[in-house]
Amino acid sequence: MCHLRQFICSILLAFALYSSLQAQANPSFSTRPTSPFSIALETLQNQIQYTFQDVELLRRALTHASYSGENNRALSVLGEKVIEGSVSLQLLSKDIDMSPKDLNRVIVELSSNVVTSCAADGGRLGLQKIIRVSRKTNSSAPAVVCGAFRAMFGAIAIDKSSLDSAGKVFLTIHGKGMEKAMAM
Ligand SMILES: *[C@@H]1O[C@H](CO)[C@@H](O)[C@H](O)[C@H]1NC(C)=O
Repeated sequence: MCHLRQFICSILLAFALYSSLQAQANPSFSTRPTSPFSIALETLQNQIQYTFQDVELLRRALTHASYSGENNRALSVLGEKVIEGSVSLQLLSKDIDMSPKDLNRVIVELSSNVVTSCAADGGRLGLQKIIRVSRKTNSSAPAVVCGAFRAMFGAIAIDKSSLDSAGKVFLTIHGKGMEKAMAM
């Protein structure tokens, strides 16, 4: 009797172990995104051609302060510096004699102008449809879209431990607009 119970017990234990190993071995079981938000983040990573090692950072970049305390505000500050740095590097590499006045003008144009630049870039990526906001917040408001757009680069910088990697992703996304602003 005692033996039989032990036997059944070990079979049950083996089965439990087997199922948990299966769940781990089969990624679609545990990590395939299922919520609309997770699916949108997958699509966004394809669009920007950057895959996060820690997708939690991208989730945070696309979470507005009205939605959660774990939001994109600080990432957005870092992202703005990433954009300013990469734009300055690009411009001065092309023309070391560029005047500081012109350099500052283009930086403001590209990184600080909510209406014409970062909100437009963010809007093209459809961030207004992805970002999580409270019910009372308009996710299409330029400041909201812009915050998420900048935060994305802050998130990449942290994900890669590299400002340069984040700057390169920005320049790829923003390439055309940059040439336009430089020509002005
Ligand atoms: C949300 O913001 C966008 C962009 O500023 C605006 O066009 C739209 O009318 C706003 N929607 C509401 C419901 O306020």
